[in-house]
Amino acid sequence: MFMTEHFYHEEEAMKEICPIADSGRFLSHAEDHANLSDKALDLVVEITETSTGGMPASLAENLASKLETHFQRFDKYLDS
Ligand SMILES: [Fe+2]
Repeated sequence: MFMTEHFYHEEEAMKEICPIADSGRFLSHAEDHANLSDKALDLVVEITETSTGGMPASLAENLASKLETHFQRFDKYLDS
């Protein structure tokens, strides 16, 4: 839930600061947010169905890796 709220606020901020010329980049960035949100939801469903009481380490590492890739590919340019 925190992650999807963060993505929403990030996209709202990007709409305000990104020039129209970056619209393709914005759409790719927002699409990656949607993919990450879907992946996180899949993990929640899997955890709920298996009732292990927590996220298996391999799944946590998989999501962390995808988030790191997202930060390097998309979020990093927002600082410049
Ligand atoms: Fe992002």
